[in-house]
Amino acid sequence: MQLKKNTISNSKILVTGGLGYIGSHTSVELIQQGFEVIIVDDLSNSSPSVLEGIKKIIDYPITFIELDLKDKNSVKDLFELNPDISGVIHFAASKAVGESRIKPIEYYENNLVSLINLLKEIDKKGDSFPFIFSSSCTVYGQADQLPINELAPIKKAESPYGNTKQVGEEILFDALIANKCLRVVSLRYFNPIGAHPSGEIGELPNGKPQNLVPFITQTAAGIHKKLSVFGNDYPTIDGTCIRDYIHIVDLAKAHVIALRHITLKNQVKSFEVFNIGTGKGSTVLEVIKTFEKISGQSLNYEISPRRKGDITAAYADTRKANKVLGWEAELSLEEALISAWKWEKKIREL
Ligand code: UD1
Repeated sequence: MQLKKNTISNSKILVTGGLGYIGSHTSVELIQQGFEVIIVDDLSNSSPSVLEGIKKIIDYPITFIELDLKDKNSVKDLFELNPDISGVIHFAASKAVGESRIKPIEYYENNLVSLINLLKEIDKKGDSFPFIFSSSCTVYGQADQLPINELAPIKKAESPYGNTKQVGEEILFDALIANKCLRVVSLRYFNPIGAHPSGEIGELPNGKPQNLVPFITQTAAGIHKKLSVFGNDYPTIDGTCIRDYIHIVDLAKAHVIALRHITLKNQVKSFEVFNIGTGKGSTVLEVIKTFEKISGQSLNYEISPRRKGDITAAYADTRKANKVLGWEAELSLEEALISAWKWEKKIREL
């Protein structure tokens, strides 16, 4: 594989949570774009096998450090031993909405203490320092207007998980005011789905998946008898909720482009927010139909009651990311579902 030569000097990028779903795909894109990457991950919700998958795709040495970012001394050592870290993409966080309601303190501790420990070390840096934060469209709740742009008001979080994303952005904003070198981009993801087209990395849900697409592929693979469609009485075209499903590879690429954008930007410190989605909404039934089409099999599903906390519809206004970053999603829902199904079949050895 041909690696691109990176034009940005001193570009050793720390990818926290780099063995997770979004982190692993972003690490691949970074390395393919010529960045040097240090992956840290505490393996709490990921597997060392992901590292093997990444290596199969890029065939290039990667530094991996097993590290718990909640441990401030470990974070201090990490930065002292790697003084050439010149940017951070921060994925490491707990992300299960339902679990966050059961273990709120653990969620606040994991998601916020890790961020604070990183910022303490970054604060010691003298030069402009890019930091990409993994945020979520969950911060908008049910937006008053669709598509959702970055100026839509932040609504009260529906869960401790969602609140950690809101508070995380606030912490970064306050840190930036006081810090002389921080450049922050917060990417508010819509619904990432799919897997790397190579079939070497993909989503590995911990236990029973809560998200739609892994539940669909696991049902098709025979792991679950049927999929529950949570509600068909929403005010949408077919009564099911609308979301903006973005291919994980498009999402990963947005990080690399955002990193280049802030690194090259002629500004000492900045805080920018971008919605990262396709701009197109699909209902749950449309996703199911598309999956049936690409897989050639019919999916066993039933209509169930609404899920608590679900919003009717969310899809992104991506014009800011298109214009300012020069990024746009290129892959379709079909391509995303093809890759998700390929990945599911691979891990189930079907
Ligand atoms: C969920 C989280 C959100 C998080 C995002 C990460 C909730 C309420 N929201 O978003 O905070 O940022 O994941 O990806 O958990 N669905 C079914 N049956 C299922 C699973 C889902 O019908 O078994 C439906 C849901 O009702 C929803 C759609 O599919 O309408 C998408 O659900 P999901 O994949 O969980 O994503 P979100 O709810 O958008």
